[in-house]
Amino acid sequence: MNDVPRKLQTFLDELALVLPADFAAPVRAIDTNSAGGGAGSGDLPVRRYWSVLTAGGGRLVEPLAGLAPHFRWVQNPNYVASPPDPGFLQNYGYVVLAGPGGLVESADLALGFLVLGPNTHYPTHRHPAVEVYVVGAGTAEWRKGGDPWRLEPPGRIIRHETMMPHATRTLAQPLLAIYLWRGDLKTHARITGH
Ligand SMILES: [Fe+2]
Repeated sequence: MNDVPRKLQTFLDELALVLPADFAAPVRAIDTNSAGGGAGSGDLPVRRYWSVLTAGGGRLVEPLAGLAPHFRWVQNPNYVASPPDPGFLQNYGYVVLAGPGGLVESADLALGFLVLGPNTHYPTHRHPAVEVYVVGAGTAEWRKGGDPWRLEPPGRIIRHETMMPHATRTLAQPLLAIYLWRGDLKTHARITGH
């Protein structure tokens, strides 16, 4: 039985409740009936943190966990070609849920989640898309431009406008952060600093 549409819809319903209006509207417009139930693929080393990240449950993480067999773990090709540090690719990966390459198509929105291992520095990067993150599990430090680092616990919403430089670094905990992109969905992020 393909139960992906129902599980994805549960996740999206919970997500829309916490999003700003300009992101909640396109999330509510996603038609999950076409969500594919294909087997997952593209395993990555960072998946070793999945059980720790989902152990605490939560209104967003729990429905996500039910979709795990269908995940396709990927990495930004720019980072694969030129990793910011030797351990980065062992501790970084993401899964697309909606949008290009996702479980369901969406023309004007990309949605998925990022996972970082503990003690990982995701250096300053930027992209044309407007981005909202919702912290799902793990408290990490986040920075916009030249602002000071800020500790952001689960539930926190973090917004990056077009081409705004931003960085994330984890402490002792791994991080699961749901991301949403609007605008230019095709141009991958590029690392621009430290
Ligand atoms: Fe970003």
